[in-house]
Amino acid sequence: MSNSDFRPRVLSGVQPSGALHIGNYFGAIKQHIELQHEYPGEAFYFIADYHALTTTQDAALLQKQTLDVALDYLALGLDPAKATFYRQSDVPQVTELTWIISTVAGMGELERAHSYKDKIAQGIRPNVGLFLYPVLMAADILGPRSTMVPVGQDQVQHLEITRAIARSFHATYGVEVFPEPDVRLNDAKVVPGLDGEKMSKSYNNTIPIFVDGEELRARVMRIKTGSEPRGAALNPAEDTTFKLYSLVAALADVETMRQAYLAGAIGYRDAKQRLLEALEAYFGPFREKRAALEHDLGYVESVLQEGARRAGEEIQQTLTLVRDAVGLNRPGVR
Ligand code: ADP
Ligand code: TRP
Repeated sequence: MSNSDFRPRVLSGVQPSGALHIGNYFGAIKQHIELQHEYPGEAFYFIADYHALTTTQDAALLQKQTLDVALDYLALGLDPAKATFYRQSDVPQVTELTWIISTVAGMGELERAHSYKDKIAQGIRPNVGLFLYPVLMAADILGPRSTMVPVGQDQVQHLEITRAIARSFHATYGVEVFPEPDVRLNDAKVVPGLDGEKMSKSYNNTIPIFVDGEELRARVMRIKTGSEPRGAALNPAEDTTFKLYSLVAALADVETMRQAYLAGAIGYRDAKQRLLEALEAYFGPFREKRAALEHDLGYVESVLQEGARRAGEEIQQTLTLVRDAVGLNRPGVR
């Protein structure tokens, strides 16, 4: 069997580990939303709260951040009629599959995982969950028989481990139950943060998608700029304010701003003011949607429950084949 024997299905997970920022939006979320339209009924997105447990051991925080991801995605356009959206921990089949595939996963490969090695290098005393992180991720992906996984570069090795586990299972049991999923790398540029480095929650240099008012203004005013005097020509290609503006402003406005930079007709302060307005215009409607959803948590929960039901059903079908393959089904009983 090859991947073409499986129906195309997109799947990705998001860790509930802090406010989503515009780097996440342009680097990942926007693509997720677009893919639900390209693959209606075949896009699976979930909140990876079990993964978050390997690093967050604060119950109230985990609960809050999980709800935040749900609200954020729904506000940003996730459509429950097109995509299956769920909380990982609501689908017990994921953990059942994790155990079974852990028995065909190679120790060496997991020991070589960058995410694990990086944590150890940072002096974190690893728990076993951190070590098994890629196996849980493989179960997330293989359970619904996903063929395509849109993620960032840092997740590529996890996808390789997922493929290796699928191959090992097939070789061990002589049946092919899983596709070997492809990575879909996002070709979007890296979004710079306030200091000009990659925007990342670990660098404290983000513009969260859902801040507004004074806090948004304060963040924009913190953006690092050059020190050219007023009236000097500015280089748009090297300026963070301009780069962020190009992501959220209309093409014609970006061109006008570029010319103003080159002609020395605009200073950094005014450029930031325009960026602020463009951010308000771009994300404003999403903020309104999010505020409305916050008053309708029953709806949000019902979306997640329905998503969990559908995902559970899909993974159950895989599990039936898997349990047959390894000898866990009782003879004659299904
Ligand atoms: P963070 O660096 O803030 O911890 P994550 O590593 O959780 O963000 O990233 C989640 C997703 O967002 C990944 O797909 C990643 O590639 C994307 N992403 C994060 N930061 C950026 C950025 N600055 N530019 C583009 N994409 C990004
Ligand atoms: N490990 C991913 C991250 O940190 C999140 C994740 C968990 C995931 N399970 C997944 C992504 C399955 C894609 C597919 O970003």
